[in-house]
Formats: sequence, structure tokens, C-alpha cells
Amino acid sequence: MSTPDASSDGAAAIIAAAANKFKEAYSAQSITPRALIVGASGETGQQVLRELLSSGAFAQVTSVGRREVTYGGPNGDRLVQKVVDFEQLCNEHGIERKGAPNATAAPATGTTTASKVDFQGHTHAYCCLGTTRAKSGVDGFYRVDHDYTMAFAKAFYEANAPTAPTAATASNNAEANDVADSSSPTGDSPTTPLQFSVVSSTGANARSPLLYVQTKGQVEEELKAMPFTRLTIFRPAGLLCDRKESRFMETVMVKAIRSIDRIFGTKSLGISTALLGQAIVLDSLRHPLAKANAAQKQQTTLSNAAILDSLKTPPAV
Ligand SMILES: NC(=O)c1ccc[n+]([C@@H]2O[C@H](COP(=O)([O-])OP(=O)(O)OC[C@H]3O[C@@H](n4cnc5c(N)ncnc54)[C@H](OP(=O)(O)O)[C@@H]3O)[C@@H](O)[C@H]2O)c1
Repeated sequence: MSTPDASSDGAAAIIAAAANKFKEAYSAQSITPRALIVGASGETGQQVLRELLSSGAFAQVTSVGRREVTYGGPNGDRLVQKVVDFEQLCNEHGIERKGAPNATAAPATGTTTASKVDFQGHTHAYCCLGTTRAKSGVDGFYRVDHDYTMAFAKAFYEANAPTAPTAATASNNAEANDVADSSSPTGDSPTTPLQFSVVSSTGANARSPLLYVQTKGQVEEELKAMPFTRLTIFRPAGLLCDRKESRFMETVMVKAIRSIDRIFGTKSLGISTALLGQAIVLDSLRHPLAKANAAQKQQTTLSNAAILDSLKTPPAV
């Protein structure tokens, strides 16, 4: 059984089996799966990056970030890195900073202007971006967790969907606490099936008065309104990891969660970033998308417990 605070060898075997089926499904359709990830330098993102590459399922994994990441795992030759200016990316997608016009300054030295070409040719996108209010302030938190996330989502969609979206109706299963799958055809959609996966948070709620969960809820709603063929929202509780960056309150919380989970065997308080990374990649591998269904809009929201449970279930035969 997956415990919240462990990485899982059992899951590794499930991922390997799912990766084989995934490759077969894409090969049969003559589609080359390529993944795009943002936030790969973070605690969750580095786990997702490792799983994406080591699964061998993707011909290319492109990391988009404000800096390059160091990667020493399997299939490193498939990793492409693009250092981009996120303010520029917001500008290009008309995402204004709350209460202030967009910056027009040139990108910082060493960054490239975010280019459509960098986003093209990808079938899957993973967003593990995030900051904290303590680190970036209220505006800075919203800028990263909402604006940069939406700029990334739009850049991925627009570079890979040849047709412009019209009024696509979101199937609304926002309040699901466990696995909730639905699909509905949309009027206008990509011809290549596109998967978008995002790390949100437990308690995400656009109508909450609390900045953190309100922002996460708002992002979820805006992503649901986009015509991705498949959208998966991960709502982890506390992230368990030996964080490089020192966050005092989080360290205290992680220790408390580890103790409670150990004593009571609970699954709703936390998850290791290693398991979360495995679950995020496994979710995509288990759902290879079909060209014929590119116009569908499947949306899934996974709670902390559902994320952990997903690693125990063998792939469908
Ligand atoms: N901490 C928790 O207990 C918890 C619980 C539930 C959900 N979450 C959510 O889970 C997600 C992942 O969290 P995490 O702890 O794995 O994240 P993390 O370790 O803090 O990493 C965040 C990523 O975002 C990037 N980033 C931050 N500010 C940026 C900026 N101004 N411009 C460009 N990139 C920026 C970081 O890049 P650099 O490396 O360059 O800084 C890094 O790649 C977040 O959305 C978080 O809100 C966290």
C-alpha cells in the first residue's frame, strides 16, 4: 500500500507497464508524445521531470523555467531546456498584473523571449509552478500561482491547437473530493489531443476569502474553461519532502503530518513529492489520448487520498 510519506517501488512497476501501453497507443496513431513542464526546479516538479524522462514514454521533455535545472537521471538526452521570461509570456497572452499594467522591460540577461516555437509539438503539459505569500508578497504570489500558470497553459494550448477555441462549455466537477471523470464534446477544439496536468491544492475554492485556496480555485476554474482534451487537477495536502529552501512553518507542519500519518495511518494530510510525481505521470500514461477524441473535454480532480490510491490500482487490461 502507498503510504503518504514514501516513494513506491510498486508504483514504479505500474508506471513501467502503463508506459508501454501508452507508447503503443501513440505509435498506432502516428503521434509522437512530447511533454512540456514548468516548475521542474521545484520539489514536485523535479519528481515529475524524473518520472517523465525515466518512463521513456516521451520522445522529448521540455522544461520551461526562469532557470535551467540539473538532471542526472535516465534519458537525459531527451531533456530540452528553455529559459524564458514569464513577464514576457504574460504580455504575449494578454495577462495583466492585477492593478498595474504589464512590465515592458526587456527580458533579463540570459533569458529568451518566450517563443511559440518553444511550446509547439507537445502533447502533454505539466504545471508545478508556485511560490508563497511569505516569499513573494500577496501580488507576487498571485502573479506566479495564477498569472504565470495561465500564461503557460495558454502558450501550450495556442501553440498546439490549430483551431482557435470558441465558447467551450466546461464540464463542472470542481467540488469532487475523489476521482471524478467526465467528458463532453465541445464545439471547437484541438485536432491533436492535448493533456494538461496541474498541481493545485486541497481546499481550492475560488469563492474562499483566503488568498491561497481562492487563487488555486480560480486557476482551476479558468483551466476548466479551456478546451484541453483532458485536464487533470491534483489537489495534494501538505507536501512531504526534505525541502532545500528553509520554510519554518512548513517544516513544523511536515513533522506533524509525518507523526500523525504514522500513528493513525491517515491519507488526507500529506503526500511525499516523490509519490505525487509518480501519480501525476501515471495519470497521463494511463490515459493515452485518441485523435478521434481530441474534441472531448475530460476533466478529473484528484484529492490527496485519491492521488495516493491511484498508485495502488493496476492499469486496466
Ligand atoms: N507546500 C505544500 O505543502 C503544498 C501543498 C499543496 C499544494 N502545493 C502546491 O504545489 C505546487 C508545487 O509546490 P512545490 O512546493 O513543489 O513548489 P516549489 O518547490 O516551491 O517550486 C516552485 C517552482 O515554481 C518556480 N517559480 C517560483 N516563483 C517563480 C517565478 N517568480 N518565476 C518563475 N518561476 C517561479 C520555481 O522556480 P525556481 O526554482 O527558479 O524558484 C520552482 O520551479 C505549488 O503550486 C504549491 O502551491 C503546495
